[in-house]
Amino acid sequence: MTKVRLGIIGMGGMGTEHFKFLQNIEHIEITALCDVDDTRIAFFQGKKFDDHHKLIMSGAVDAVLIATLHYAHTQAAIDALQNGLHVLVEKPIAVHVNDAKKMIAAHTDKKLKFAAMFNLRTNPVFQKMKHLVVSGELGEIRRTNWIVTNWFRSYAYYASSSWRATWKGEGGGVLLNQCPHNLDLLQWITGMPQKVTSFIGLGKYHDIEVEDEVNAFMEYENDATGVFITTTAEAPGTNRFEIAGERGKLVLEHGKLHFTRNEVETAHFSKTTDLCFGAPPVWEIDIPVNSTGEQHTGIHKNFRDAILHDVPLIAPAEEGIKSLELGNAMLLSGLRKKTVELPLDGDAYAHQLQKLIDSSLNT
Ligand SMILES: NC(=O)c1ccc[n+]([C@@H]2O[C@H](COP(=O)([O-])OP(=O)(O)OC[C@H]3O[C@@H](n4cnc5c(N)ncnc54)[C@H](O)[C@@H]3O)[C@@H](O)[C@H]2O)c1
Repeated sequence: MTKVRLGIIGMGGMGTEHFKFLQNIEHIEITALCDVDDTRIAFFQGKKFDDHHKLIMSGAVDAVLIATLHYAHTQAAIDALQNGLHVLVEKPIAVHVNDAKKMIAAHTDKKLKFAAMFNLRTNPVFQKMKHLVVSGELGEIRRTNWIVTNWFRSYAYYASSSWRATWKGEGGGVLLNQCPHNLDLLQWITGMPQKVTSFIGLGKYHDIEVEDEVNAFMEYENDATGVFITTTAEAPGTNRFEIAGERGKLVLEHGKLHFTRNEVETAHFSKTTDLCFGAPPVWEIDIPVNSTGEQHTGIHKNFRDAILHDVPLIAPAEEGIKSLELGNAMLLSGLRKKTVELPLDGDAYAHQLQKLIDSSLNT
């Protein structure tokens, strides 16, 4: 195979953006489009379908990009994988972990590439943070703190589509729509916590059913702690990601990464110094980052190269269950007003979500 014949399922806002990005990428040809709304694909000269099964069975594609509403990701991915197609699925890979598990279970033929659109993983600043953590340069992690409150959304945004911000149509709020990238990067860089305790506001600032504010506390295996704060109601918002380790502290804010590096590990200094008020001497390092990476285009090219040349995926879809687990756990903890242990009980979350759907006025 020298080029990938791609079908896009879901040609709304993001599907249309992907269509444009893909025009400039060699060795991928968009041969088919699918949307339940035929006005979305009327412009296209190639094969058009109103049902993902028809596209999958058409023989016109080797791979699909799924950019439908969240709930529809699961069945489209399963059907494509079970019929021998490579799959690139938008974030979040599903609405809840049980659906994600079904998708992962359908990926039995490992020759098929199953990727997720976690485009922020292509950003050198996050790659650098991950490197500094994984290489041991930052030392053992003691604390993480991501305040990401610059996801402001107006009421007009929520009113723009009837499915938005409803339990039945979207399946969640800021954790499911805006934060999957942040939650993915958090777990990608620092790993998964063991416990999550959170406080959530459901429609606290907007006339919506789902969460628009989250304050979450995380506990890790090595006793490190984490805080994740988000909302769609703050303006101006903050986006500050801190990771404190034994060898110093990383701070990412305003697109700039700063490393305050301790000359000796904090615990070692504490035990060996005779100074009462001293702290480890530090080096102040601005880490140069000159671009935001290739983003969506980078993931498209990587997906193509994985199919054609077997290069490793930047974001295997299997890893998408972790950000989903974090988001689901934060929501479940906030709803039950209790600490939730990970791995998350998928049935408990699905049951809770179903109760929310049943009580929804937007049925
Ligand atoms: N990676 C990113 O940067 C990014 C940014 C925005 C949105 N997204 C994701 O992209 C996906 C789509 O979001 P959007 O903002 O484009 O939504 P949208 O409502 O604009 O578009 C969704 C499209 O899917 C179609 N559709 C719905 N159900 C379908 C089905 N069963 N089969 C075929 N078509 C179907 C709708 O008619 C619509 O055209 C979501 O998963 C969202 O989280 C990702």
